[in-house]
Amino acid sequence: MKSELSVYKRIDHPIPPLFDRDSRILILGSFPSVKSREAAFFYGHPQNRFWKTMARVLSCPVPGTIDEKKEFLHRNHVAVWDVIKSCDIIGSSDSSIRNVVPNDLTDILDQCDIRQIFCNGAKSHQYYEKYLREQTGIEACRLPSTSPANAAFSLERLENEWKVICGPLMAVPPGIGRVLLSWFDYNARLLPWRSDPTPYHVWISEIMLQQTRVEAVRGYYDRWMEELPDIRSLSEVSDERLMKLWEGLGYYNRARNLKEAAVAVMDQYQGELPGDYQKLLRLKGIGEYTAGAIASIAFGLPEVAVDGNALRVFARLLGETGDINRQTVKKSLAAEVRRAMPHERYGDFNQALMDLGATVCIPNGKPDCDKCPLENDCLAHRQGRETELPVKQKKQPRKKEQLGVFVILIPGKDSEETRVVLHKRPGKGLLPNLWEFPCVPGDITLKEAEKCAEIWGFSEYVINELGEGKHIFSHVEWQMKGYCLKVDRIPDDVREKQAWEIVTVAQAADRYALPSAFGLYRKQIEKEIRGV
Ligand code: ADE
Repeated sequence: MKSELSVYKRIDHPIPPLFDRDSRILILGSFPSVKSREAAFFYGHPQNRFWKTMARVLSCPVPGTIDEKKEFLHRNHVAVWDVIKSCDIIGSSDSSIRNVVPNDLTDILDQCDIRQIFCNGAKSHQYYEKYLREQTGIEACRLPSTSPANAAFSLERLENEWKVICGPLMAVPPGIGRVLLSWFDYNARLLPWRSDPTPYHVWISEIMLQQTRVEAVRGYYDRWMEELPDIRSLSEVSDERLMKLWEGLGYYNRARNLKEAAVAVMDQYQGELPGDYQKLLRLKGIGEYTAGAIASIAFGLPEVAVDGNALRVFARLLGETGDINRQTVKKSLAAEVRRAMPHERYGDFNQALMDLGATVCIPNGKPDCDKCPLENDCLAHRQGRETELPVKQKKQPRKKEQLGVFVILIPGKDSEETRVVLHKRPGKGLLPNLWEFPCVPGDITLKEAEKCAEIWGFSEYVINELGEGKHIFSHVEWQMKGYCLKVDRIPDDVREKQAWEIVTVAQAADRYALPSAFGLYRKQIEKEIRGV
């Protein structure tokens, strides 16, 4: 008697198509093998290299169970089906297939945005061309078969050919992580916090670097470490001193949060930052990016740190045209950064992205693609769209606020004794609890400035203009007009009523945190004193 595997049988495809709304590519085989038919799932033959190839190409572990395979396809936006609905076939033999009835792809193509169709092997492609090409109107890309019958193709060769699915999937091709590490080996920037990346050093540097350029941070970082070399000293520093150390860096809440977190670390973790992403995330001022940076750079943990640099590099690499400030776009780019992360040197990988973004794949102006290790893989570069990407919705225009700023000087016997008036800003709103020169809202003319002096109770004074200044905060722009008001004395009742602090110029410089918004007028004090 002939074995079942050597006679023709009419077989209906026993497995429904696998796809969902987010499927981006469709991979078509010809018809399931005996093993797949028995398992009632695609590519069930243990020697078929479909799952191994896909896992390599998409930098994921090989899925084992049917549930894992379904989840893997769903997560990676891959739809799978076969060209043939029913046929006469001997066992699993593709070449024996006769009397083909093709599948109908209409549902899949209608319900999801399939960007490309791939055929697994020559037979599948041949049947697609013959039975489906006209129906779909889509050209399919033929890939070498993963079936055991194609054993001549090694797994490496399969991976290399199957990499093309990454484009329409918007998935990073395999190997990018190692390329970035090699680039970093020769191009890493020499930065003070990199020479000894303790958790404390990494933490402080990362907080300082938020919204702040590396060059601006260097000096602050060194001064900070000299005065606050460890978490205990930070937890004990006075608020005034803390603000003074941060003076000019902006976003002063960062410093307040640092101190609050340091107190918590003293209380809860015996003064040592925890080497755990979730625990780091619970500390004040530490968000996903910073937790990932500390975990990977200081503790060697496999966490990504996706900042604006990483988002920009990956948006260009993958040709992402969605608004980079949208949460869904950020999330999918972050998932690709995670996919690209190699299985070693996690902190270096994150820092390589930061450095590449800061020095080569720069935000404004033309990126230096000649110097980029990802030049050949970068979709934006291949399409000549590197300056168009990433897409960012225009921000709301900043609110403009006009302000008269008064540098009130009380000349002393010599210049060292000259005193200046400071005022503590309210605890709420912009620059809370920091010091300022007395300010009056509005577009204050010289005449109005004189009026102010009189309202404050000065009858004898000399006033002169200090010029116009502008300072840009994230949501507000200050347009300032400065005036220098020289007076002989300030009556106690005026000082009390206005809550003014009267200090020598040296004291103001040493002890009082005056935000850089006032820098233009602070700089003019010396000149004014010399002219006194
Ligand atoms: N920007 C933010 N964090 C950084 C880091 N660790 N190195 C370089 N640039 C950065």
